[in-house]
Parts: sequence; structure tokens; C-alpha cells
Amino acid sequence: MHNRLVQIVTGLLCCFSVPLMAQPIVVNPAIKTASISPNMWGVFFEDINMGADGGIYAEMIKNRSFEFQKPLMGWKLDNKPFREGAITVQNRQQANTNNPRFIRVQATDVAGSVLSMTNEGFRGMAVKKDLRYDFSCLYQHADNQTDIRMQLELIDTLGKTLGGAIIQPAVSAGKWSKFTASFTATATNAKAKFRITFTGRGSIDLDMISLFPEDTWKKRPGGMRADMIQLLADMKPGFIRFPGGCIVEGFDLNNRYQWKKTIGPIEERQLIMNRWNVEFAHRPAPDYFQTFGLGFFEYFQLAEDIGAKPLPILNCGMACQFNSAELVPMDQLDPYIQDALDLVEFANGDTNTVWGKKRAAMGHAAPFNLTMIGIGNENWGPQYVERLQAFTKAIRSKYPGIQIIASSGTDPLGERFDFLNQSLRAMQVDFVDEHYYRKPDWFLSNASRYDAYTRNGSKVFAGEYAAHSDSKQTAEKRNNWQAALSEAAFLTGLERNADVVQMASYAPLFAHVEGWQWNPDLIWVNNQQVIGSASYQVQKLYALNKGTHAVAISRNGAVMAGKDSLYASAVVDANTQELLIKIANVSATTQTLPIDIAGVKMQGKVVQQTLLQHPDLMAANSFDQPDNIVPVQTAVLCKSKTFTYEAKPYSFVLLRIALKK
Ligand code: AHR
Repeated sequence: MHNRLVQIVTGLLCCFSVPLMAQPIVVNPAIKTASISPNMWGVFFEDINMGADGGIYAEMIKNRSFEFQKPLMGWKLDNKPFREGAITVQNRQQANTNNPRFIRVQATDVAGSVLSMTNEGFRGMAVKKDLRYDFSCLYQHADNQTDIRMQLELIDTLGKTLGGAIIQPAVSAGKWSKFTASFTATATNAKAKFRITFTGRGSIDLDMISLFPEDTWKKRPGGMRADMIQLLADMKPGFIRFPGGCIVEGFDLNNRYQWKKTIGPIEERQLIMNRWNVEFAHRPAPDYFQTFGLGFFEYFQLAEDIGAKPLPILNCGMACQFNSAELVPMDQLDPYIQDALDLVEFANGDTNTVWGKKRAAMGHAAPFNLTMIGIGNENWGPQYVERLQAFTKAIRSKYPGIQIIASSGTDPLGERFDFLNQSLRAMQVDFVDEHYYRKPDWFLSNASRYDAYTRNGSKVFAGEYAAHSDSKQTAEKRNNWQAALSEAAFLTGLERNADVVQMASYAPLFAHVEGWQWNPDLIWVNNQQVIGSASYQVQKLYALNKGTHAVAISRNGAVMAGKDSLYASAVVDANTQELLIKIANVSATTQTLPIDIAGVKMQGKVVQQTLLQHPDLMAANSFDQPDNIVPVQTAVLCKSKTFTYEAKPYSFVLLRIALKK
């Protein structure tokens, strides 16, 4: 999206014969070293940093159902001259346990009085001129004696209207009904609010007060922010992991993610506090809740939309071990296991099954083709292994084709990791989920981590990783080039060992610049803009150029995993008959690299270069400079299949070479 220059420059720049004694990089496309899974490069989605509510979920009203801990959080009431009880919070706990609260408005139509409520949105509301906005609410009247009207308005910070409508829902005495209305914005504004002003006489109850822009992803009503989803689609990810992350575990078991509570009519999806609300004392987020407007059906649909395999992660009967560390006793684990079995039926079952029928009722009769499931996020210890065994037994017996992904804890090394790695491999889980949030140096020195890894048994899912640079910068500027370049170098090692590491995803995915708890993050947003970080550009480059199999690449007979500050991998795409070489030069100097393509013939004499590079390791993409670090393409003519590549300082390049068919 932000490709500053995707320029094609052709020149006779790089080709001359290799000087005597030079140490060439030898690539042999005829020597296959590993198959590359079509799912290799994926994305990790969690509702952290306002990733879902206030993020990809395009709902503009914060606290639409008044179920936040403080029922009027996000709303400001105007009641002038003040009249006690004109707007009250009501609770129908017995009648509706999932969504008990609503608002009762009693209007008297006294001349000169004002009765209104204004919603502040998620750090304001971004409004676009000429775009349609779709309002909806649930309502009921106390009786038939009402002529209450509601003026709906988007307003700027000074209260000036940006478009709206006056509505008068048909009388619905004592019966909840749905009302919808649409209007068009008359101006663009980054920090708008939404006001409802009541006139007339009578009483009206309101719930699920909602406002969505028309331009959601695929124009789905009540859908997702299209600009954010587009960046995912652009990566063509092989899988999408959801819904996390620690959110799966919950602060305590009550706060865990329960997929069954996230499907069906949205007004019945029970809201809970988002665990990131209270996780970090230095980044409090008191208004962070999970409405589940975006739930498991929507995640599966998103996966399908962007061509990614769905990879749900479920709670294993353990809450976050950094927080409450609550455990479900083994003799009470069955409902948790049943949730996993039912999820497979929800995703894949035919429409006569209990859960397949619910999927069909939501508008998707065809299966979602679920093939893998994660049990536990960052859980550890013998308690985890014991619970995982129970899940594994049940899933394998009912659904032998479903692959199981298991947690190796929070760290990629140490006693905890070793214990889990051995236990999980002994259980022959399909994938061991490894997480690495480490300094850039760790990524550089671990680029050969998998070169000598055991090739048999469980495969590795690099399920969460990000280089955390020491930079004092915060927010999007922490996603600097140093971090991204070290990730690029490390990923050559994953690609080279694609027989061992068969899936990988950076984490976390999204962060709102005014609402983040954790950084760095792959994609930064405000309410109007979306920027791919330098790490995003690296991930995308891998995902779009994954090839079908890794091939031999070496220098001085050794893999390139850090010697002379160079890292490299090579793949062939058998579909296009192209050789794709990736080289990271993490040094501050230009390196002249002879490259020798052995064993095969080139088709033509062009090497396409896609270069990510910046001379300043602290450089980053930002809202002011979103295209600071983006790929630049050039085409270079070569005389022969032995040519020289000038690797710029702090650079990562993809060389694309057509092979003779
Ligand atoms: O990605 C952010 C958090 O990092 C995830 O929620 C958790 O799994 C890990 O600790």
C-alpha cells in the first residue's frame, strides 16, 4: 500500500566475472533442502492495543450496551435545566443475564431544555465527508403515550454538526425492537463525537446504540475496518492465529476467552473486561472491554476472506500464570475439552449437527475447513502437560485429522522450555509453539537455531516473535529498522529449515497509537491512518516470496547465518520456476558478494531486486513518514549466472531470478 517507489530501473550494473579468490555465495536450485508449507508465513491476531474493539471492529460507539464496569463510561449526558432521573441506567439482570443494562430516557419537552447523550468513540471518531453512516439501536417505549424524537448527529469538538438525521421510532410499547437509520457526513473530522438529542414527550429505553461507517471490509454491515484488513490481505498470510495471546488465558478463569459466548446475535454476546485493561500499571486502559462484536464466526470469515487457514487457540483450563494462575481441577476439565470438540463441529460440521447448524444460521452453510487447533497459549509446567494430554486424547479420538498445537511457554530456552519441549515431543503433538520476544542481537545470534534441530517428530510453530530493540523511542517508532533487519536475518534461518519450522507469525499484529499497551507491533493505526512498520515490510516480503521449496545456499561450504554479518536463504517457486534469494547484510559497510547460480540455467539475464534498506538503524515508519522503509524494486541485467551483488549497509534484499523451464 505504501510502496514509496516500486520503480523498475534497468541497468548494466552488477555483472562482471568473479575476481580470483573471491568467496562466492553458491546457490544450487537443483538441490532441494526442504519443502515450504503453503501456510509458512501467517499472522497473529489478538485484541490487545485496541486491536479489535476500537481497531479492526469498525463499531464507532464505545460502550454501546452500557455493560462497562462504569455503565456510562464513554458517554456524557446533557440534562439542562437539571431534572433528576431524566436519563437512568436500568438493569434487567433476571430477564437478560448476558446484556442486563440499558438506558431509560424520560423527555418532557419543556421549552429551552436540553436532554442529550454524547458518545466519545474510541479516542474520538474518524468521520469522512460524503460517507454514509449506519445507526442502529434496540428500543422500547413505556407505553403508547409518546412522541419522543431523537436527533442523531456526528459533531466536531466544538459541537458543530457533521451530518445526522432526526428519527422517531415507531411506538413499541413494552417490546424491544430494532431501529435503523443512515445519514451522510458533511465534513471530514479526525476526532468527532456522536450525539443523540431527545425532544418530545414520553419515555424510551435504549440499548445496543451502534454506529458503523459504510466502507467496512467487503462492505459488510457491522463489519471490520477495511484499511486495516487490507494490509493483512496484502500479505497473503498462510494462516491467522486468533484470538491470542494472553487473552485466551484471561486474568483469571472467569476472564478467559470463551468462543461460544462470541457467536450468535451480537446483543446476546456477553461483554467482559479485556485483560489488557489492567495488565500494565504504566499503561492503564480502564475503558478496554471485549464486546465480542468480533467473535469466532467473524474470525473464521476473516480467515476465509484473506485466504488464510484458521488457527484458533483455546483455553486449556489454566488462567494466565503471570496473573491469577487459576487451574481447573482435572475432574472438572470436561467442559473445556467439550468446547474444543464443539469448535471443530462449529467450523467443519455439516448443517445437521448442533454446532454446524449454528454456523449455517449465521450465514455460512459451507464448512470453514479447520485443520488445526491450539490448546493453551503461554502455559507451562506439569499442570499444563496433564491438561494437554486430556485434550489431545479427546481431539485425536474424535477428530484424528485435526493437528494439535501446544505451548512451550513464554521463553525459547531454559529449564521450563526444556521440560515442555521434551514432554510435548514425547506426546507427539503436531506443533510446538515457540515464542521469542528478544533483543535484536538474540535474533542475529540465533539465526542458526534450527540448523541442528531434531528433524523428526513434532514441528515448530514460531507462533509469536518480535525483536525488541533497546531504543527509548515508544509507539510506532520502536519498530525501527534495527529490529526489522534482525528479524529478516533470523527468518532466513526459518526458511532454510522449513522442514522443521512450518509456520511463523510476528506478534502482536495491531496497535492503536492512542491505545496501546505493548510494543513493538507489526501495524500501527490511528482512527484515520494505517501504517505497516518496517517489520511488516519484512514479513510481507517473506510471505509473498515463500516459494515451494528451500534450496542449497552456502558460502565457503557453510550456511550463511552471521559470518561477515551476512545471512541468507534461497527458495525455488516451482509454480513460476523462479529462484528467490534473500540476503541480509547487518554490517555498516557495503559488501561485494559474488553469486554463483550452480546446477541450472537462467531464463534471460535479469535479476529483479527488491530492497529494504536504511542507513539509520533507528529509522522507522511513522504517521509522518509512513514510507520511510518500504521495498524498492529494480531490475538489473546480468551477463551470466555468475554475477556480483553489492549488498548495501543495513540492507535486506530479495533477488528474483527466472530459471530455464
Ligand atoms: O503478543 C503479546 C503477548 O505476548 C501475548 O498476548 C502473549 O502470548 C505474549 O506474552
